[in-house]
Amino acid sequence: MSDVLIMAIESSCDETAAAVVKNGREVLSNVISSQIDLHTLYGGVVPEIASRKHIEKINQVTEQALTEAGVTWDDITAIAVTYGPGLVGALLVGVSFAKSLAWALKKPLIGVHHIEGHISANYIENKELEPPFMCLVVSGGHSHLVKVSDYGEYEILGKTRDDAAGEAFDKVARAIGLGYPGGPKIDKVSNEGNPLAMDFPRAKVVGNEYDFSFSGLKSAVLNYLNSMEMKGEPVSQADVAASFQQAVVDVLVGHSMRAIEEYGFNKFAIAGGVASNSHLRAAFEEACKERGVSFYRPSPIFCTDNAAMIGVAGYYEFMKGMRSDWDLNAVPNLKLGER
Ligand code: KG4
Ligand code: ZN
Repeated sequence: MSDVLIMAIESSCDETAAAVVKNGREVLSNVISSQIDLHTLYGGVVPEIASRKHIEKINQVTEQALTEAGVTWDDITAIAVTYGPGLVGALLVGVSFAKSLAWALKKPLIGVHHIEGHISANYIENKELEPPFMCLVVSGGHSHLVKVSDYGEYEILGKTRDDAAGEAFDKVARAIGLGYPGGPKIDKVSNEGNPLAMDFPRAKVVGNEYDFSFSGLKSAVLNYLNSMEMKGEPVSQADVAASFQQAVVDVLVGHSMRAIEEYGFNKFAIAGGVASNSHLRAAFEEACKERGVSFYRPSPIFCTDNAAMIGVAGYYEFMKGMRSDWDLNAVPNLKLGER
């Protein structure tokens, strides 16, 4: 069979990205135009600005992905695009652009679920990895513990009841004056802090032991900061960051390992922006080693939003015969496993 080349487009949040992926696992190009500098001015992602920037960049980013891959439009088999979840205006830019491309070039169109993309990022550098495995998806908008039964087949064992893990990182970073985006900054400043300095809560959720809750932890940090301010006592930014991060890491590792043991998995993967956290990666590495479980994690560039992961997920959907219609729309709250 001839090679299957997917041109993938991702615009669900603040990264305009395009990539060319060959036969599902080989990334020929991975172009990412980040808007972080722009949103940093406002302390977070401004949806309207994100949409406008995507419109400005998408053409150039896509052309660059094609050029860097060293291929022409004739070589491309199909166009894959993230259609949810995400910011509706931002998603719409990618979806409309991908539809126009697919229509003009007479190529199949494949709508891809953003979280399925994050999970699929693990296939890029681990050529031997195949389902079934357990995957923890931790991003700015999601914290999901997922059973990956097969390509494109998922069962959510647990999810957050309130804030996503990345959201908690971003909010705590803002509170201790680190600014946006919080995750990478807390990761870095924690290296100088003591993770045992404060004993922040590790929430257990009643009803489903695999669900997460991070809003209590966030409030505990805010309360601590307030009480120190009232007492006029100095706060160690590094200690708060490290102790907060340790609480998140403990909960994520604890839930995941319990699920692996209960369901008897010997393969475990992490995905999403928070999966690029160096302390989290080290903790999972150790926990998996202790249990004789193979641990998979994408390189940081494939953890945060990118289009290569959408190309991988798009490839497996394409091979299963999935094709989107011309009425494909952006679905901001799309659930995993839904069409
Ligand atoms: O997956 P992603 O790029 O976008 C979404 O789909 O949400 O994740 C972005 C999130 C942000 O909350 C960011 O602060 C967090 O991932 N993040 C990190 C790190 N790098 C990014 N969190 C902790 N440690 C990091 N090194
Ligand atoms: Zn994402």
